[in-house]
Amino acid sequence: MNAAVANIGVVGLAVMGSNLARNLASREGNKVAVYNRSREKTDALVVEHPEAGFAPAFSYEDFAASLSKPRTAIIMVKAGRGTDAVIDELVKVFEPGDIIVDGGNAYFPDTIRREKAVRETGINFVGAGISGGEEGALLGPSIMPGGSDESWVTLGPILKSIAAVAEGEPCVTHIGHDGAGHFVKMVHNGIEYADMQLIAEAYDLIRRGTGKTPAEIADVFAEWNKGELESYLIEITAEVLRQVDAETGKPLVDVILDQAGAKGTGAWTVQTALSLGVPVSGIAEATFARSLSSHPEQRAVAASLPGPDEAFEVADVDAFIEDVRLALFASKIIAYSQGFDEIRAGAAEYDWTIDLSAVSKIWRAGCIIRAQFLNRIADAYVDAPDLPVLATAPYFAAALTDGQAAWRRVVVAATQAGIPSPAFSSSLAYYDGLRADRLPAALVQGQRDFFGAHTYKRIDKEGTFHTLWSGDRTEIEAEDTH
Ligand SMILES: NC(=O)c1ccc[n+]([C@@H]2O[C@H](COP(=O)([O-])OP(=O)(O)OC[C@H]3O[C@@H](n4cnc5c(N)ncnc54)[C@H](OP(=O)(O)O)[C@@H]3O)[C@@H](O)[C@H]2O)c1
Repeated sequence: MNAAVANIGVVGLAVMGSNLARNLASREGNKVAVYNRSREKTDALVVEHPEAGFAPAFSYEDFAASLSKPRTAIIMVKAGRGTDAVIDELVKVFEPGDIIVDGGNAYFPDTIRREKAVRETGINFVGAGISGGEEGALLGPSIMPGGSDESWVTLGPILKSIAAVAEGEPCVTHIGHDGAGHFVKMVHNGIEYADMQLIAEAYDLIRRGTGKTPAEIADVFAEWNKGELESYLIEITAEVLRQVDAETGKPLVDVILDQAGAKGTGAWTVQTALSLGVPVSGIAEATFARSLSSHPEQRAVAASLPGPDEAFEVADVDAFIEDVRLALFASKIIAYSQGFDEIRAGAAEYDWTIDLSAVSKIWRAGCIIRAQFLNRIADAYVDAPDLPVLATAPYFAAALTDGQAAWRRVVVAATQAGIPSPAFSSSLAYYDGLRADRLPAALVQGQRDFFGAHTYKRIDKEGTFHTLWSGDRTEIEAEDTH
């Protein structure tokens, strides 16, 4: 039986777990116990990284015995049944007060369920969203832990020691109780979908409107990366566009099959938003755009449908590129505003206290959407923690004011040219819907009352009303039902 030498353990030593374990081991004061279901991964990790001084365990009993109390273990296994299987085993060998952390990509309702079940044993369960992939796990991820306040006391310093650092601050904060961490990680991924789709639409418009080559457009993105669009995603877009395929000598982007994959977190974000009644149209369109791209059988038959007759040619290339930049920034503001709206609504629904400014700050490094821009979001929520719409904060309102004419020109040009820009145009439609004095929702209410007696409210008096639509339909009788 091992002696209790380790202050933290990792279960699951595939790519993510082994890198996270190495990250933990590299930080002062940490001794890391490691366990994997099949022994080979444990042996390989220990042999390949003697510098880490791992305490390997080959049974859950040994793993528990090698941890000092309160025992703290991070699970990094295949999300779903794998996570449940490991929790079941750890619960048998851990004691009340110990901490089980699920660092995998769990769906937040599963985390809520697991937290509730594990809490009954007196053991703490923490669902922690960990972003940044393999490199983040090794060098410093952005970490979004949920769970109890008690577990944060032990876990906080450990997670702070391994997280990415942005402007001197570790990219981890206690997001809220039970599933709050995985909820926020889910929305992070949804925003990532929207950001990527917007960038892809900007590229497509420039390419098809100006005839520039991918390498030339890489220069455009590299230039944009020096301004307000500065971000990891813009930076890597330039690199992807510059890449030449070694085999054919063509731009790599022209050789890659145009069918985008997805692992499901975008869909979760949209499904959750639908049940919360939050319009995350940018994220939804980005998710649907991936789905559309991945139906080659439909695309093949639809290719015969007509598009516009006239060729798309931009008269002033520089002016068009600047318009696309402004449209991209405006649409990005809307996508983030919608994402934060979903977090705000989720917090209200699940009774979490989430500091939106802190969330924005921990995304500044270690994750895919890292960007300077997140400082502006953090500032907006510091100035007005209850801000109902992020896009209305002074900095963003000014950017939307500056960009909206260009945004409209780009959406019009894309529509006339037959170039799909679902994220650009849906963001603009959301913007116009949100700022409208009056919406045709009034007519929808009338229709609902007509066919289903769903009632409506009036602009000029309190109460709930129903019109008697039958008969000659001129008779309108309002009935105050409250
Ligand atoms: N945040 C990110 O950027 C990011 C990126 C990638 C992955 N992830 C998440 O991180 C987690 C780990 O990902 P990964 O790619 O390293 O590994 P993975 O391929 O998702 O899972 C493989 C690991 O899970 C273990 N496992 C599977 N079923 C198990 C069970 N029933 N009992 C015990 N162990 C079981 C495997 O053990 P064996 O070796 O015995 O098969 C192996 O260690 C996942 O939840 C994944 O979604 C996050």
